[in-house]
Amino acid sequence: MFGNFIENRIRKKISAFEAIDGWLTPNEALGLYLLASKLPPHATVVEIGSWQGKSTYCLARGLRSGTIHAIDPFNASGGFDLRSEQEYMQKKADTDLLALFRENMSRLGVLHKINVKQGYSSQFAGDFEKIDLLFIDGDHSIPGCIADFEQYAPRLAPGGWIAFHDYYAESTDLGSTFVVNNLVMPSANFRFYRSFDTLWTARKIR
Ligand SMILES: C[S@@+](CC[C@H](N)C(=O)[O-])C[C@H]1O[C@@H](n2cnc3c(N)ncnc32)[C@H](O)[C@@H]1O
Repeated sequence: MFGNFIENRIRKKISAFEAIDGWLTPNEALGLYLLASKLPPHATVVEIGSWQGKSTYCLARGLRSGTIHAIDPFNASGGFDLRSEQEYMQKKADTDLLALFRENMSRLGVLHKINVKQGYSSQFAGDFEKIDLLFIDGDHSIPGCIADFEQYAPRLAPGGWIAFHDYYAESTDLGSTFVVNNLVMPSANFRFYRSFDTLWTARKIR
């Protein structure tokens, strides 16, 4: 009851996320905010797949102190996931995605919390010594999502958090579903925390 009251207040607080193009539902937006709000001071958040900043905004509103590293080529690439790429390309048309991302974050007052890393996730994995929250929403193919998990999850601090977007238990051809079912759930290093629609989250326990 009290939890619902707090969560409804957060929903109102981040309602500006609705105006940014993207795929997050209100429950998923709430989930990202809640995870970011649990982090220690000077936290490092890594977001793989930022598009126009819908999820980045929710993370930034939850984060009390620290930096969100927003990794995306900002060119509508889908990586190995060519079906998504078609959709991204159609939506993008002649939009400058990076300029729009920055404009959205600036207008909503969170740009100062964000470090843009324009490029593919494989280029930056070595940049992080310790990650407190890893959000994977980039290449949705199985090999792409495996690569993101294998390159970045070892950098998660014990007690850190991981979140995958687009976890559909029955869609085993989706990268997030494959990685969660086959690599995260069976691992003794992670404990399931909570699902928010298709946002699947877990804690690294060791
Ligand atoms: C589904 S969208 C992300 C949506 C965003 N998280 C939101 O909530 O609005 C996926 C994004 O990941 C990007 N992407 C695809 N492959 C990537 C990769 N290997 N590394 C980083 N970003 C990638 C795409 O170009 C696209 O911008």
